[in-house]
Amino acid sequence: MLAIIGGTGLSRLADLDITRREIVRTPFGEPSGPLTFGKVGDAEVCFLARHGYGHTLAPHEVNYRANLWAIREVGARRVVAVNSVGGIAPALGPGVIAIPDQIIDYTWGRKHTFFEGPEAPVKHADFTHPYCAVTRKLLADAANRAGIPFVDHGVYAATQGPRLETAAEIARLQRDGASMVGMTGMPEAVLARELDLPYAAIALSVNHAAGLGDSKDAIQLDELQAVLDAGMRQVLRVLGAAVALHQDNA
Ligand code: HPA
Repeated sequence: MLAIIGGTGLSRLADLDITRREIVRTPFGEPSGPLTFGKVGDAEVCFLARHGYGHTLAPHEVNYRANLWAIREVGARRVVAVNSVGGIAPALGPGVIAIPDQIIDYTWGRKHTFFEGPEAPVKHADFTHPYCAVTRKLLADAANRAGIPFVDHGVYAATQGPRLETAAEIARLQRDGASMVGMTGMPEAVLARELDLPYAAIALSVNHAAGLGDSKDAIQLDELQAVLDAGMRQVLRVLGAAVALHQDNA
């Protein structure tokens, strides 16, 4: 079964034939909400809204450990994350979908490992390639099948939020080699890796990052919603195709 973690603008899967909801308790506390199970055609999928179903959890308040643990607990074997991002690379203007292949983590103070505390063994997860290649290909194949254009790579910079970045911070991320910026990519990706859950992300650019393009003077937050709504409709089509493809290949 494929699991989907929805972000801003995607708190439920439209057209999903919901079969059940499950509240999962974990040793790390409560996930963002109940997991929703459903079918796309005859393929089963489980869905979790990262920010809670009422979008009440800020990026630094999300219990990423509980979310990933719960997803594995219910038997999901692959995870697709949806992230909305600010575009840094010129090719990632508002409305563009990307499948990132790298991450730089600028977050701090988040619970970012399962391997800590007196009882837990120390484990150093290999994270050279933070996203699963097979899952990235699944997303690319799904986007192609759905006829949705996308950029097939990119470096995701994970910032702490909830505030947006300064222009100087974005200039620094640009120098670091980042092509997009978001607030929820980490520690989600590494926690999936620690659990050996294949994980990849589909990112939707909803604005030019601070100081760039039409965000030169400010990020026009009131204009984001329309881009988010239109973009997420496309993301949903990719996800529908991904669920079916995952089932075919399982
Ligand atoms: N910065 C960080 N996170 C984001 C942005 C941004 O510009 N846009 C959407 N999520």
